[in-house]
Amino acid sequence: MDLEALPFLTHYASDGGAYATAAVAFIDDPETGPNASFHRLLRLGRTRVAARLVERRGAETAWRRSGPDGLPVAICIGLPLHVLLAASMAPPPGVDELTIAQALASTPVVTCGKGIRVPAAAEFVLEGRITHELVDEGPFVDLTGAYDLVRQQPVIEIDRVTHRQDAIYQALLPGRLEHRLLMGMPREPTIYAEVNNVARCLNVHVTPGGASWLHAVVQIAKQGPEDGRRAIEAAFRGHGSLKHVVVVNEDVDIFDPHDVEWALATRFQADRDLMVFGDQPSSSLDPSALHVPDQKSRTAKMGLDATIHWDTPTGPRDPGAYRRMW
Ligand SMILES: Cc1cc2nc3c(=O)[nH]c(=O)nc-3n(C[C@H](O)[C@H](O)[C@H](O)COP(=O)(O)O)c2cc1C
Repeated sequence: MDLEALPFLTHYASDGGAYATAAVAFIDDPETGPNASFHRLLRLGRTRVAARLVERRGAETAWRRSGPDGLPVAICIGLPLHVLLAASMAPPPGVDELTIAQALASTPVVTCGKGIRVPAAAEFVLEGRITHELVDEGPFVDLTGAYDLVRQQPVIEIDRVTHRQDAIYQALLPGRLEHRLLMGMPREPTIYAEVNNVARCLNVHVTPGGASWLHAVVQIAKQGPEDGRRAIEAAFRGHGSLKHVVVVNEDVDIFDPHDVEWALATRFQADRDLMVFGDQPSSSLDPSALHVPDQKSRTAKMGLDATIHWDTPTGPRDPGAYRRMW
Protein backbone atom coordinates (compact mmCIF):
# COMPACT_ATOMS: atom_id res chain seq x y z
CA MET A 1 0.00 0.00 0.00
CA ASP A 2 1.20 3.55 -0.71
CA LEU A 3 -0.04 7.01 0.26
CA GLU A 4 -2.22 7.42 -2.87
CA ALA A 5 -4.43 4.64 -1.49
CA LEU A 6 -5.17 6.64 1.68
CA PRO A 7 -8.06 9.15 1.60
CA PHE A 8 -6.09 12.30 2.43
CA LEU A 9 -8.69 15.12 2.11
CA THR A 10 -8.79 18.53 0.46
CA HIS A 11 -10.89 20.61 2.87
CA TYR A 12 -11.14 24.16 1.50
CA ALA A 13 -11.03 25.75 -1.94
CA SER A 14 -7.48 27.14 -1.85
CA ASP A 15 -5.77 24.31 0.09
CA GLY A 16 -2.25 23.44 -1.07
CA GLY A 17 -3.34 19.85 -1.71
CA ALA A 18 -4.72 16.79 0.06
CA TYR A 19 -3.91 16.66 3.77
CA ALA A 20 -3.87 14.14 6.60
CA THR A 21 -5.18 16.02 9.66
CA ALA A 22 -5.33 13.35 12.39
CA ALA A 23 -1.74 12.11 12.00
CA VAL A 24 0.33 11.67 15.17
CA ALA A 25 4.09 11.36 14.71
CA PHE A 26 6.05 9.20 17.15
CA ILE A 27 9.79 9.85 17.30
CA ASP A 28 12.66 8.88 19.58
CA ASP A 29 14.86 11.85 20.41
CA PRO A 30 18.35 10.49 21.29
CA GLU A 31 18.67 13.26 23.92
CA THR A 32 15.22 13.49 25.49
CA GLY A 33 13.52 10.21 24.58
CA PRO A 34 10.18 9.42 22.93
CA ASN A 35 7.79 12.16 21.80
CA ALA A 36 4.37 12.13 20.16
CA SER A 37 2.76 15.11 18.44
CA PHE A 38 0.20 15.94 15.76
CA HIS A 39 1.53 17.12 12.41
CA ARG A 40 -0.58 17.96 9.41
CA LEU A 41 0.74 16.17 6.34
CA LEU A 42 0.48 17.48 2.77
CA ARG A 43 0.59 14.56 0.33
CA LEU A 44 3.30 15.09 -2.30
CA GLY A 45 3.14 11.66 -3.99
CA ARG A 46 3.03 7.92 -3.36
CA THR A 47 5.80 7.92 -0.73
CA ARG A 48 6.26 11.56 0.25
CA VAL A 49 4.50 14.12 2.45
CA ALA A 50 5.44 17.59 3.69
CA ALA A 51 4.92 18.00 7.46
CA ARG A 52 4.32 21.18 9.42
CA LEU A 53 6.77 21.07 12.35
CA VAL A 54 6.21 23.97 14.73
CA GLU A 55 9.55 25.50 15.66
CA ARG A 56 11.26 24.61 18.97
CA ARG A 57 8.78 21.85 19.82
CA GLY A 58 9.72 18.20 20.43
CA ALA A 59 9.73 16.83 16.87
CA GLU A 60 11.23 19.95 15.28
CA THR A 61 14.05 20.11 17.85
CA ALA A 62 14.94 16.43 17.33
CA TRP A 63 14.74 16.78 13.52
CA ARG A 64 16.95 19.88 13.50
CA ARG A 65 19.64 17.99 15.48
CA SER A 66 19.40 14.82 13.35
CA GLY A 67 22.17 13.65 10.98
CA PRO A 68 22.14 13.83 7.16
CA ASP A 69 19.74 10.86 6.88
CA GLY A 70 17.11 12.72 8.91
CA LEU A 71 14.98 11.48 11.81
CA PRO A 72 13.17 8.10 11.89
CA VAL A 73 9.44 8.52 12.45
CA ALA A 74 6.32 6.35 12.80
CA ILE A 75 3.11 8.20 11.98
CA CYS A 76 -0.17 6.80 13.29
CA ILE A 77 -3.56 7.62 11.77
CA GLY A 78 -6.66 6.39 13.58
CA LEU A 79 -5.94 6.44 17.32
CA PRO A 80 -8.10 6.18 20.46
CA LEU A 81 -9.30 9.53 21.82
CA HIS A 82 -7.14 9.43 24.93
CA VAL A 83 -4.00 9.01 22.79
CA LEU A 84 -5.06 12.00 20.66
CA LEU A 85 -5.49 14.02 23.83
CA ALA A 86 -2.06 12.99 25.15
CA ALA A 87 -0.44 13.85 21.79
CA SER A 88 -2.05 17.30 21.94
CA MET A 89 -0.16 18.17 25.12
CA ALA A 90 3.24 19.82 25.25
CA PRO A 91 4.83 18.39 28.40
CA PRO A 92 8.42 19.32 29.32
CA PRO A 93 11.17 17.54 27.30
CA GLY A 94 11.71 14.03 28.67
CA VAL A 95 8.03 13.39 29.45
CA ASP A 96 6.66 10.84 26.97
CA GLU A 97 3.10 11.48 25.73
CA LEU A 98 2.57 7.68 25.65
CA THR A 99 3.03 7.65 29.44
CA ILE A 100 0.36 10.34 29.69
CA ALA A 101 -1.93 8.24 27.45
CA GLN A 102 -1.30 5.23 29.66
CA ALA A 103 -2.28 7.27 32.73
CA LEU A 104 -5.60 8.13 31.04
CA ALA A 105 -6.51 4.62 29.81
CA SER A 106 -4.90 1.30 29.01
CA THR A 107 -2.64 1.81 25.95
CA PRO A 108 -0.93 -1.37 24.72
CA VAL A 109 2.09 -0.54 22.57
CA VAL A 110 4.06 -2.36 19.89
CA THR A 111 7.53 -1.64 18.53
CA CYS A 112 7.46 -0.96 14.80
CA GLY A 113 10.20 -1.64 12.25
CA LYS A 114 11.96 1.65 12.99
CA GLY A 115 12.32 0.61 16.65
CA ILE A 116 9.76 3.24 17.70
CA ARG A 117 6.93 2.33 20.11
CA VAL A 118 3.42 3.11 18.84
CA PRO A 119 -0.06 2.35 20.21
CA ALA A 120 -1.12 -1.15 19.16
CA ALA A 121 -4.62 0.18 18.43
CA ALA A 122 -3.44 2.45 15.58
CA GLU A 123 -5.42 1.86 12.38
CA PHE A 124 -2.54 2.86 10.06
CA VAL A 125 1.21 3.23 10.75
CA LEU A 126 3.34 5.10 8.20
CA GLU A 127 7.05 4.49 8.80
CA GLY A 128 9.80 6.60 7.34
CA ARG A 129 12.17 9.47 8.08
CA ILE A 130 11.88 13.21 8.31
CA THR A 131 14.45 14.36 5.75
CA HIS A 132 16.28 17.68 5.49
CA GLU A 133 14.70 18.44 2.10
CA LEU A 134 12.42 21.49 2.38
CA VAL A 135 9.36 22.33 0.25
CA ASP A 136 6.49 24.82 0.42
CA GLU A 137 3.85 23.58 2.89
CA GLY A 138 0.36 25.09 2.58
CA PRO A 139 -1.92 26.88 2.17
CA PHE A 140 -3.86 25.17 4.98
CA VAL A 141 -6.73 26.46 7.13
CA ASP A 142 -5.62 26.41 10.75
CA LEU A 143 -7.22 27.03 14.13
CA THR A 144 -8.48 30.55 13.53
CA GLY A 145 -10.38 29.45 10.41
CA ALA A 146 -8.06 31.54 8.21
CA TYR A 147 -5.24 30.32 5.98
CA ASP A 148 -1.94 29.78 7.80
CA LEU A 149 1.25 31.13 6.18
CA VAL A 150 2.97 29.00 3.53
CA ARG A 151 6.38 27.97 4.89
CA GLN A 152 9.36 25.85 3.85
CA GLN A 153 8.87 22.59 5.75
CA PRO A 154 10.55 19.15 5.73
CA VAL A 155 9.64 16.27 3.46
CA ILE A 156 8.94 12.90 5.10
CA GLU A 157 9.87 9.86 3.01
CA ILE A 158 7.58 6.92 3.81
CA ASP A 159 8.99 3.44 3.16
CA ARG A 160 6.37 1.24 4.86
CA VAL A 161 2.63 1.47 5.45
CA THR A 162 0.98 -1.09 7.74
CA HIS A 163 -2.66 -1.20 8.84
CA ARG A 164 -5.24 -3.18 10.70
CA GLN A 165 -7.61 -5.41 8.80
CA ASP A 166 -10.49 -3.26 7.45
CA ALA A 167 -8.68 -0.21 8.81
CA ILE A 168 -10.67 3.00 9.36
CA TYR A 169 -9.02 6.24 8.21
CA GLN A 170 -9.47 9.16 10.62
CA ALA A 171 -9.56 12.87 9.75
CA LEU A 172 -10.14 16.02 11.81
CA LEU A 173 -11.98 19.02 10.38
CA PRO A 174 -9.29 21.72 10.45
CA GLY A 175 -10.26 24.88 12.31
CA ARG A 176 -13.51 23.42 13.60
CA LEU A 177 -14.48 22.38 17.09
CA GLU A 178 -12.75 18.97 17.26
CA HIS A 179 -9.43 20.57 16.23
CA ARG A 180 -9.96 23.49 18.62
CA LEU A 181 -10.93 21.34 21.57
CA LEU A 182 -7.79 19.23 21.30
CA MET A 183 -5.63 22.37 21.04
CA GLY A 184 -7.23 24.45 23.78
CA MET A 185 -8.15 21.93 26.45
CA PRO A 186 -4.56 20.93 27.38
CA ARG A 187 -3.75 24.63 28.00
CA GLU A 188 -6.38 24.97 30.70
CA PRO A 189 -4.37 22.98 33.31
CA THR A 190 -1.11 24.79 32.43
CA ILE A 191 -2.80 28.18 32.95
CA TYR A 192 -4.50 26.88 36.11
CA ALA A 193 -1.18 25.72 37.59
CA GLU A 194 0.54 29.09 36.99
CA VAL A 195 -2.39 31.15 38.32
CA ASN A 196 -2.64 28.89 41.35
CA ASN A 197 0.95 29.82 42.24
CA VAL A 198 -0.07 33.46 42.78
CA ALA A 199 -3.80 33.35 43.68
CA ARG A 200 -6.49 30.78 44.49
CA CYS A 201 -7.49 29.56 41.03
CA LEU A 202 -10.85 27.81 40.76
CA ASN A 203 -11.20 27.15 37.04
CA VAL A 204 -9.95 28.11 33.55
CA HIS A 205 -11.73 28.09 30.19
CA VAL A 206 -9.89 28.54 26.89
CA THR A 207 -12.87 29.85 24.95
CA PRO A 208 -14.01 28.68 21.49
CA GLY A 209 -14.66 32.30 20.44
CA GLY A 210 -10.91 32.92 20.77
CA ALA A 211 -10.22 30.00 18.40
CA SER A 212 -9.69 27.85 21.52
CA TRP A 213 -6.15 29.19 21.64
CA LEU A 214 -5.93 32.99 22.00
CA HIS A 215 -8.48 33.77 24.75
CA ALA A 216 -9.06 32.49 28.27
CA VAL A 217 -11.34 33.22 31.20
CA VAL A 218 -9.81 32.58 34.62
CA GLN A 219 -11.89 32.22 37.77
CA ILE A 220 -10.33 32.98 41.14
CA ALA A 221 -11.36 33.18 44.79
CA LYS A 222 -10.01 36.66 45.43
CA GLN A 223 -8.06 36.90 48.68
CA GLY A 224 -6.12 40.12 48.19
CA PRO A 225 -6.42 43.38 46.21
CA GLU A 226 -3.73 42.42 43.69
CA ASP A 227 -4.97 38.88 42.94
CA GLY A 228 -6.68 39.83 39.66
CA ARG A 229 -3.57 41.47 38.22
CA ARG A 230 -1.31 38.66 39.43
CA ALA A 231 -3.66 36.13 37.82
CA ILE A 232 -3.44 37.99 34.49
CA GLU A 233 0.38 37.90 34.48
CA ALA A 234 0.42 34.24 35.52
CA ALA A 235 -2.10 33.24 32.84
CA PHE A 236 0.23 34.59 30.14
CA ARG A 237 3.05 32.51 31.65
CA GLY A 238 0.80 29.43 31.61
CA HIS A 239 0.08 29.61 27.87
CA GLY A 240 2.59 31.45 25.69
CA SER A 241 0.12 32.00 22.82
CA LEU A 242 -2.57 33.54 25.02
CA LYS A 243 -3.48 37.02 23.78
CA HIS A 244 -6.46 38.20 25.87
CA VAL A 245 -7.51 37.03 29.33
CA VAL A 246 -10.43 37.98 31.57
CA VAL A 247 -10.32 37.25 35.31
CA VAL A 248 -13.60 36.81 37.22
CA ASN A 249 -14.88 35.89 40.68
CA GLU A 250 -16.42 32.57 41.72
CA ASP A 251 -20.03 33.70 41.08
CA VAL A 252 -19.44 34.10 37.32
CA ASP A 253 -20.06 31.17 34.94
CA ILE A 254 -16.86 31.08 32.88
CA PHE A 255 -18.51 28.83 30.27
CA ASP A 256 -21.23 31.42 29.53
CA PRO A 257 -19.92 34.35 27.42
CA HIS A 258 -22.91 36.47 28.49
CA ASP A 259 -22.03 36.00 32.14
CA VAL A 260 -18.39 36.95 31.52
CA GLU A 261 -19.57 40.06 29.66
CA TRP A 262 -21.85 40.85 32.63
CA ALA A 263 -18.83 40.74 34.94
CA LEU A 264 -17.02 43.16 32.59
CA ALA A 265 -20.07 45.43 32.46
CA THR A 266 -20.54 45.63 36.23
CA ARG A 267 -17.07 45.18 37.77
CA PHE A 268 -14.46 46.44 35.31
CA GLN A 269 -13.07 49.97 34.89
CA ALA A 270 -10.70 50.29 31.93
CA ASP A 271 -8.50 52.99 33.47
CA ARG A 272 -8.03 50.86 36.59
CA ASP A 273 -8.42 47.19 35.67
CA LEU A 274 -6.92 46.91 32.17
CA MET A 275 -3.37 45.62 31.65
CA VAL A 276 -1.79 46.01 28.21
CA PHE A 277 1.57 44.47 27.29
CA GLY A 278 3.08 45.67 24.00
CA ASP A 279 5.39 43.75 21.63
CA GLN A 280 5.07 40.27 23.15
CA PRO A 281 5.92 36.88 21.60
CA SER A 282 2.81 35.66 19.81
CA SER A 283 1.03 32.75 18.23
CA SER A 284 1.98 32.28 14.59
CA LEU A 285 -1.72 31.68 13.87
CA ASP A 286 -3.05 35.20 14.60
CA PRO A 287 -3.38 37.01 11.24
CA SER A 288 -3.24 40.40 13.00
CA ALA A 289 0.14 39.72 14.69
CA LEU A 290 3.48 40.86 13.24
CA HIS A 291 5.02 37.99 11.27
CA VAL A 292 8.66 38.13 10.12
CA PRO A 293 10.13 34.98 8.47
CA ASP A 294 12.39 32.94 10.82
CA GLN A 295 11.46 35.13 13.80
CA LYS A 296 8.95 34.59 16.58
CA SER A 297 5.72 36.46 15.74
CA ARG A 298 4.90 39.52 17.90
CA THR A 299 1.63 40.81 19.34
CA ALA A 300 0.11 43.07 21.99
CA LYS A 301 -1.56 41.29 24.90
CA MET A 302 -4.40 42.43 27.12
CA GLY A 303 -5.66 41.32 30.53
CA LEU A 304 -8.98 42.48 31.96
CA ASP A 305 -9.46 42.19 35.70
CA ALA A 306 -13.25 41.83 36.00
CA THR A 307 -13.14 40.75 39.63
CA ILE A 308 -14.85 42.88 42.27
CA HIS A 309 -12.52 45.76 43.09
CA TRP A 310 -11.12 45.91 46.63
CA ASP A 311 -11.25 49.52 47.75
CA THR A 312 -10.13 48.61 51.28
CA PRO A 313 -7.17 46.31 52.17
CA THR A 314 -9.59 43.60 53.34
CA GLY A 315 -12.21 43.71 50.59
CA PRO A 316 -14.76 45.87 48.78
CA ARG A 317 -16.33 48.63 50.90
CA ASP A 318 -19.84 47.64 49.77
CA PRO A 319 -19.85 43.99 48.59
CA GLY A 320 -23.66 43.97 48.40
CA ALA A 321 -23.57 46.47 45.52
CA TYR A 322 -22.01 43.83 43.26
CA ARG A 323 -24.29 40.95 44.21
CA ARG A 324 -26.62 39.56 41.59
CA MET A 325 -30.12 39.16 43.02
CA TRP A 326 -31.35 36.26 40.89
C1 LIG B 1 -5.42 18.72 15.87
C2 LIG B 1 -4.03 19.20 16.12
C3 LIG B 1 -3.20 19.53 15.06
C4 LIG B 1 -1.89 19.93 15.28
N1 LIG B 1 -1.09 20.19 14.20
C5 LIG B 1 0.20 20.46 14.40
C6 LIG B 1 1.09 20.62 13.28
O1 LIG B 1 0.69 20.54 12.11
N2 LIG B 1 2.39 20.86 13.54
C7 LIG B 1 2.89 20.94 14.83
O2 LIG B 1 4.09 21.11 15.00
N3 LIG B 1 2.08 20.80 15.90
C8 LIG B 1 0.76 20.55 15.71
N4 LIG B 1 -0.06 20.40 16.80
C9 LIG B 1 0.49 20.53 18.17
C10 LIG B 1 1.24 19.27 18.60
O3 LIG B 1 0.41 18.13 18.67
C11 LIG B 1 1.89 19.38 19.98
O4 LIG B 1 0.99 19.79 20.92
C12 LIG B 1 3.03 20.33 19.95
O5 LIG B 1 3.86 20.03 18.87
C13 LIG B 1 3.84 20.33 21.24
O6 LIG B 1 4.22 19.06 21.67
P1 LIG B 1 5.75 18.64 21.98
O7 LIG B 1 6.49 19.87 22.44
O8 LIG B 1 5.64 17.57 23.03
O9 LIG B 1 6.28 18.11 20.69
C14 LIG B 1 -1.40 20.04 16.60
C15 LIG B 1 -2.22 19.73 17.66
C16 LIG B 1 -3.52 19.32 17.44
C17 LIG B 1 -4.38 18.98 18.61
